[in-house]
Amino acid sequence: MDFEIKFASPEKQRGACVVVGVFESRKKTDTAKVIDQTSDGYIKTILSRGDMDGKPNTTLLLHDVPGMQCKRVLLVGLGKEKEFGDKAFLTATQAVFNAFQKTGVTDAAIFLTDIPVLERDVNWKIKQTVLLAGSSDYQFDQLKSKPEERKYGLRKLILGISNRADLAAGKQALQQGQAIAKGMSLTKDLGNLAPNICTPTYLAKQAKDMAKEHKLKATVLGRKEMEKLGMGSLLSVAQGSDQPAKLIVLEYQGQAKKEKPVVLVGKGVTFDTGGISLKPSPDMDEMKYDMSGAASVLGTMLAVAEMKLPINLVVIVPATENMPSGCATKPGDVVTSMSGQTIEVLNTDAEGRLILCDALTYAERFKPKAVIDVATLTGACVIALGHVATGLISNDDKLSQELLNAGKQAADQAWQLPLWDDYQDLLKSNFADMANIGGRAAGTITAGCFLSRFTKEYRWAHLDIAGTAWKSGKEKGSTGRPVPLLSQFLIEQAEV
Ligand code: BES
Ligand code: MN
Ligand code: ZN
Repeated sequence: MDFEIKFASPEKQRGACVVVGVFESRKKTDTAKVIDQTSDGYIKTILSRGDMDGKPNTTLLLHDVPGMQCKRVLLVGLGKEKEFGDKAFLTATQAVFNAFQKTGVTDAAIFLTDIPVLERDVNWKIKQTVLLAGSSDYQFDQLKSKPEERKYGLRKLILGISNRADLAAGKQALQQGQAIAKGMSLTKDLGNLAPNICTPTYLAKQAKDMAKEHKLKATVLGRKEMEKLGMGSLLSVAQGSDQPAKLIVLEYQGQAKKEKPVVLVGKGVTFDTGGISLKPSPDMDEMKYDMSGAASVLGTMLAVAEMKLPINLVVIVPATENMPSGCATKPGDVVTSMSGQTIEVLNTDAEGRLILCDALTYAERFKPKAVIDVATLTGACVIALGHVATGLISNDDKLSQELLNAGKQAADQAWQLPLWDDYQDLLKSNFADMANIGGRAAGTITAGCFLSRFTKEYRWAHLDIAGTAWKSGKEKGSTGRPVPLLSQFLIEQAEV
């Protein structure tokens, strides 16, 4: 989709559709007032008929409005003016894209970005609009024999702003929004792909292709190299699978080499059967999404490269399947991690932490400014936070605050859980330095505690995206989260 930011008046817009907002109790926005004047009170008449009351999530499509140069005007309900904050803005903008899906509108000029949103500037509105447009535009039909008919044909979107001074900054917001949308789209594709296609080898190939296109450094380690490094924990997960495991590393340099990088580590279990601790069959197909952490850090890398951010960034993806087989790890097996610490594998379904711990030790060699791992780590996180917030655990208060703020700013929120020593006791093992599970209670926290034993050398945060990375049910599919959060965090890193 093409975008353009324009300092423009609605009544002069040609083209297929102009979008304007109406507040609840039919209070017109400035743009709606202009159109009302141009059309000699037409909007007022329509509103007084009661077909559009300005309630959230409502739209009304008008054709051939008198005096207007465009073919259609789409009225969109904004809710109460006093409550017009993040959620109301996002709901209204989403309603616009939903409405377009049912029409033949190919180009539109949207005048929502100039309506004041509590505590948000025009750049925020532009970025969010572009992200929602990108999400509406997203379709995954690679695996259908014939591509599906395009449900929705919007090809060009003009973002109308009312202040010429906002133009320059707005352009940067637009560019960032497009880069993040592109990253999200890659993340979604990787997540949605079938697990017989999206294998560790496939992820490695995608990373190498991205490296070529964006001048990144790519390194892919296979089993032999990982053995040499002593990654016994990661390899213990891989040993039950016929698909070779990979450790994928991408390095982006947007700053002097001596500047410390941020390192993102993404869980890349391309299919999680649970291993010998086999999962139940219902919905097991959804465990193809167990590489969503990997997909999100690769998507974020793409966004950062597109934005050409002046930061150094390293992405590490431990990638493997978790399968039961004659050579699979058994409950009770003791493995030695790259850090030298031994682990009693009491449950082979707690495999995410087993691959992450070795990747986190590997991250030390980059002398990172901060390390953030992203993983669909625990079902317990879905119980705790549902599908709204990503779980956050960190050993550094400043870092966790920065991530929480970035999530708020990006409308991709996280919520922090405690990393207290009291929880560490739950990981005691009679036979090794630690067990890989801590029982049912506080499952997300004990998983974080496990990881924290491998992250003592640097500032670290963990994002559990088990509830936020994909949607189940009728609209099953990857959400692209937390690419917006991570991208926003990195944009802010570039600014300090
Ligand atoms: N990939 C799963 C976590 C998961 C489950 C994410 C359901 C989203 C939905 C992870 O590998 C896993 O199986 N975790 C176990 C840990 C337990 C054995 C301590 C879990 O959450 O049940
Ligand atoms: Mn598992
Ligand atoms: Zn898993």
